[in-house]
Amino acid sequence: MRPNLMSARFLLFVSLLLLGSAFVAPAAQRGYQFRPTTNDIVFADFDGNDWGTWTATGDAFGSSPARGTLPAQQPVSGYQGRGLVNSFVQGDKSTGKLVSPPFAIKLPYLNFLIGGGNHPGEVCINLIIDGRVAYSATGGDSEHLRWHTWQLFPVMKKTAHLEVVDQHTGGWGHILIDQITMTAQARVSPYVNDAVTLAMTSQMEAAPRAEADATHPVFHFAAPAYWMNDPNGPVYFKDYYHIFYQHNPFGEQWGHMHWGHARSRDLITWKHLPIALWPSKELGEEHVFSGCATTNNRGELITLYTSIGNRSASDYAEQWAALGDNLGNTFEKHRANPILSEKLHGDLKVYDWRDPFIFRHQGVTYLVCGGNLNQAKGGQAVVLLYEALNGELTQWKFRGELFRHPDSNVKNIECPNFFKLGSRWVLIISPHAKVQYFTGDFDPVAGKFTYSQRGLMDYGDSYYAPNCMEDLKGRRILWGWLRGFKDGRGWNGCLTLPRILNLEPDGSLGQIPVPELSRLQGEAQTLGVTEIRHATNFVQGFASDTFEIDAEIECADAQEFGFLLRASLDGSRAVPLVQESGRLRLAATSAPLPKPEPGHTVRLRIFSDHSVFEVYANGRLCLSQIAYPDEKERALALYASGGGIKLRSFKVWPMQALEF
Ligand code: FRU
Repeated sequence: MRPNLMSARFLLFVSLLLLGSAFVAPAAQRGYQFRPTTNDIVFADFDGNDWGTWTATGDAFGSSPARGTLPAQQPVSGYQGRGLVNSFVQGDKSTGKLVSPPFAIKLPYLNFLIGGGNHPGEVCINLIIDGRVAYSATGGDSEHLRWHTWQLFPVMKKTAHLEVVDQHTGGWGHILIDQITMTAQARVSPYVNDAVTLAMTSQMEAAPRAEADATHPVFHFAAPAYWMNDPNGPVYFKDYYHIFYQHNPFGEQWGHMHWGHARSRDLITWKHLPIALWPSKELGEEHVFSGCATTNNRGELITLYTSIGNRSASDYAEQWAALGDNLGNTFEKHRANPILSEKLHGDLKVYDWRDPFIFRHQGVTYLVCGGNLNQAKGGQAVVLLYEALNGELTQWKFRGELFRHPDSNVKNIECPNFFKLGSRWVLIISPHAKVQYFTGDFDPVAGKFTYSQRGLMDYGDSYYAPNCMEDLKGRRILWGWLRGFKDGRGWNGCLTLPRILNLEPDGSLGQIPVPELSRLQGEAQTLGVTEIRHATNFVQGFASDTFEIDAEIECADAQEFGFLLRASLDGSRAVPLVQESGRLRLAATSAPLPKPEPGHTVRLRIFSDHSVFEVYANGRLCLSQIAYPDEKERALALYASGGGIKLRSFKVWPMQALEF
């Protein structure tokens, strides 16, 4: 599809890894202590009289484990028990390999003591899975053995074997290994890039398949591959828009929640950055759930998110932070975690407590989280308010319930967004159903929001969990997650177009796509003022599977009118966008939209992007939908039945892909 795709992708991958290793400091281990459990598996302690089930070849390892320092070797220390692997047999010049029997990966951490030379690839211990080196480690040119931990959760249940390699004959051409154990907890902080490198390797390996899929959107933002859900932490930082998102780098389904990350100067050209946040298994973290990003009083980029742990049931969810490097490209978990824990609530029990969102007002920094107070039984879905007690944003006070949902059938609130827009305050919530907004007033003294107007953010079934930011131009920009794609394509999920929110005079929310998107428009095809009566008119010569339409239509006396999007040449197959009896229908979903009176027009902006369809009516009502037209169906038609319509204006542009 694009020239030099593979080499460009490879360069991107290498540069991402370099970026990752340049900026990511070793994972924070403060206060962490390894606690052995009875389930730990001692895989090899090399205390026996021979290699047992291991096989040694070459002359570096000798016929049995060493008993410590070998002749002419500097003193070896740090090993445990009687013996260890020491490939200094006959000095540095000897070479060889020591191979373990195959084993199943039953626990998520493999720990071992390692010392000896630092010759990656030549003097190393490798974990081989499916015939390939999945993990590798070397010593640090030292005769003292130190603990090293690999995090294996992405390869759990696979069959693997270990090989200890010595292929270097010069100085430090030997390796020391001891006490190989598989544990439920990390022995030491896993080398940080094990986690992120594996995640990114997995993601990048799947990317060509995702990109080659003809249903993959091209001008809607998506992860390089695999599963994504909520947009997280959109923020403008040091000349870039940053967007993060819930991401499973290991598959097409929800799971292993990480934060994917990309940045752009202009919302059109994006760069995927290293995965920003991954579950710190060594700190008991299972998932990195949704959250926000902002700058603290030191000018640092800080993300706040819900950490889901395998901690005790009562602190299953905590709000954690991670600090960015000075460019906001890579992140390290904050030493003060948890930043907010359940203890803040005193006796109040909050269920499904998650998805922090920060806002500022009159010099005070606040945060809201969603949840419910009655185990999601309905009627007590709430948004809770917190106030920052320090500029670093690591200490918070609970202010109480900002908002309780008025509908008793709403059981829980996810992903609250709360901000001022024009003269009003806006609350956007994801209630496990269509996303709702409320506009009204915020009383910071009482810590209460009262609404006077409400509506839906998008009438499509596919839209959920939006998140927003204010940019330097003062624009409130919001992205939603589009969900419900078919499995089996190497990807699942994308974001809506970035939308600018504005407050309409009646207190309802208006939404329009950012004007930057016009940079993706190809050559426009325009129709003059045209009347269509009892007819279907094809747009002559038009054939595209990615396009934008901007049309103003006066109904005149038509009973029904609309578009055939991605139509077959005879119009018998198409994705229909229909204005009929008070509703605007897009394929399987619809929104209430009164038919324009004769003389009045409806303005429709329609974006068609392979399997993604996004419609804006009169700059207010949004309808997003997933559909799978046949690849060949690229014609476009307008029709009117039971009377006529007048096209006041009509333009269609083929749309190009976002640049990565
Ligand atoms: C919304 C949501 C959030 C949660 C995240 C987990 O889609 O359920 O509440 O933080 O997804 O992926």
